[in-house]
Amino acid sequence: MKIINVVGARPNFMKMAPLIEAMNRYPERIVHLLVHTGQHYDRRMSQAFFDDLGMPVPDIDLGIGSGSHAEQTGKIMIAFEKVCEERQPDLVVVVGDVNSTMACTITAKKLGIKVAHVEAGLRSRDMTMPEEINRLCTDVLCDYLFTTDRLADRNLEREGVLPERIFFVGNVMIDTLLKHRALSARLGLLEQYGLQPGSYATLTLHRPSNVDDPAILQGILEALTEIARELPIVFPIHPRTRKMAEQFGLSRYFTSGPQVKGIWVTEPLGYLEFLHLNMHAKLVLTDSGGLQEETTVLGIPCITLRHNTERPITCEVGTNILVGNDPAAIFAAARSVLAGQAVSGRVPELWDGRAAERIVAVLLNHL
Ligand code: UD1
Repeated sequence: MKIINVVGARPNFMKMAPLIEAMNRYPERIVHLLVHTGQHYDRRMSQAFFDDLGMPVPDIDLGIGSGSHAEQTGKIMIAFEKVCEERQPDLVVVVGDVNSTMACTITAKKLGIKVAHVEAGLRSRDMTMPEEINRLCTDVLCDYLFTTDRLADRNLEREGVLPERIFFVGNVMIDTLLKHRALSARLGLLEQYGLQPGSYATLTLHRPSNVDDPAILQGILEALTEIARELPIVFPIHPRTRKMAEQFGLSRYFTSGPQVKGIWVTEPLGYLEFLHLNMHAKLVLTDSGGLQEETTVLGIPCITLRHNTERPITCEVGTNILVGNDPAAIFAAARSVLAGQAVSGRVPELWDGRAAERIVAVLLNHL
């Protein structure tokens, strides 16, 4: 069986790493190639994750880079079509919901190649999110839909996906987290930063709906500055957010080091470093999808600066609460965590470190 595995952007890497590892256990049955679209390309957004996760160097790097949605999607499709024609895979495996996921799915399907989507069926019902469009287009086309929870199965069934295409297997990102947890715990980052466990919050912020509008971004930064008077915030900044904050003249909200109470901006961190910071944090503030799941497994309170989530399981059983981007709501949620009123969660079904193994077993049975 010849498989092309596709990655493109930062959140794809931790999902693909355990799949490659599981495929490597069947060298006599599976030949696989790794294609990186190059949607993310900065060392800290890409190569650092390959290093941390022990991923192989991509066999093919399409080197697409940044651009408008149509530009990026179109360039990926043109380049990936050539790869599929040359390599003639039996299956393309895509993960997550980024532009690379959708672009490679459409391309492969039009060439009559089967496609498997890992992390299928998640829905925010928010069509202003580019990822929601990517998720819908990808799932409607895919032959194998691997889901992280039963709610996702139901979403797919309601959209008319045949039940025999849906496989509830658990969460590959959690495979990676559980594998690296002990190693990450041993890093000396807190000592290096002069931070005590439980005495700081971490923050990620990169959604266009939060960072592309100056008034919204300023409101969020004001609320976070208030919170940071009590609990310093470590903020590994996404390149999009850095660019926007500079453009809007909002960099004054950032402090220069972890010792000052405020929002301390660092460069984007590697996988192990950021996991280390999150596992010892009092609180995580985020608009990322993946962090809502990671904090659920780590048992750390998560305040999500979004009005909706495609991962409602993290609110139903996990530690996640949605607060949107209203400054008063963000501040009130953080205050309640600091006052000891955090929700205590549990780990969702099958988020047990064996999802990739289950996926490969399904593929071996069906192909
Ligand atoms: C993308 C994904 C989003 C995911 C996020 C994780 C889509 C539509 N969006 O958003 O779902 O949550 O990745 O990070 O696929 N940039 C750099 N260096 C890089 C990459 C990006 O400087 O290596 C800057 C560029 O200015 C670029 C901007 O960030 O224009 C946005 O990058 P892009 O890949 O378009 O979207 P993200 O916001 O990263």
